[in-house]
Amino acid sequence: MQIIHTIPELRAALAHSRNPAFVPTMGNLHDGHLALVRQARPLGDTLVASIFVNRLQFLPHEDFDSYPRTLQVDADKLRAAGCDVLFAPSEQDLYPEPQTFKVQPDPQLADILEGQFRPGFFTGVCTVVMKLFSAVFAGKAQGTALFGQKDYQQLMVLRRMVQQFALPIDIVAAPTERAADGLALSSRNSYLSEAERAQAVQLSQALRALGEAARAAGEALPARLADLEHAARAQLDASGWQTDYLAVRSRRTLQAPQPGDALVVLGAARLGTTRLIDNLEV
Ligand code: PAF
Repeated sequence: MQIIHTIPELRAALAHSRNPAFVPTMGNLHDGHLALVRQARPLGDTLVASIFVNRLQFLPHEDFDSYPRTLQVDADKLRAAGCDVLFAPSEQDLYPEPQTFKVQPDPQLADILEGQFRPGFFTGVCTVVMKLFSAVFAGKAQGTALFGQKDYQQLMVLRRMVQQFALPIDIVAAPTERAADGLALSSRNSYLSEAERAQAVQLSQALRALGEAARAAGEALPARLADLEHAARAQLDASGWQTDYLAVRSRRTLQAPQPGDALVVLGAARLGTTRLIDNLEV
């Protein structure tokens, strides 16, 4: 596996690749990332992963500085998983000057849910992903990029970005990997104390219970939605969480569901100082 830090070196390494498969990450890789890498393996002639903790997608009070950076261990895991090229730029490599041109996603999709609680987050994500796509795929007739379904809204925003900019890139979703108790794997799980880790499964349990209540409501769901979400949130808060949102949405639009819509339940909540997100299609 080649480890590469700059865009020109990356382009040179991929000069003969016709259709790279690409897994962008912020590192501190867990089994969810490695499942993405294994899923990516047959989808291109060269398998590229990136590790870059992207300052643009963190608010000033968030965990940019403390985000775990474990490049050596991550590189070993990627090598063992069959990755061909690891692109690990420094901030200076990726943002040699302030990134003043940015990708502004559709506010209907990006200013709700995560975007409501992390303003600017999806602008930061879209901007870095567009730049990473340019580094990996420029000049290629076709490519594939993989993202985890745990970041459900991110996946939808990026799909829309690729569609609206007519990028020749297939976006492939990978199912959320979970620990034995049901907690969605996340790099931020490493922030949890032992007691918090034992409690953390309550988020996915809350999503499941809200999803069941939403399905049971049937055609009355639009009228009952606010009450169901409020009750779910009150219960999670009563268990010691600070809930940002627990929401039942249309899988197609991420707006409040209309009768007949396929549903997804999404949530974000803080346990101690750790903010976790999760979702379930129901
Ligand atoms: O999901 C992530 O890890 C990040 O948001 C991504 C897509 C690598 C962009 O920094």
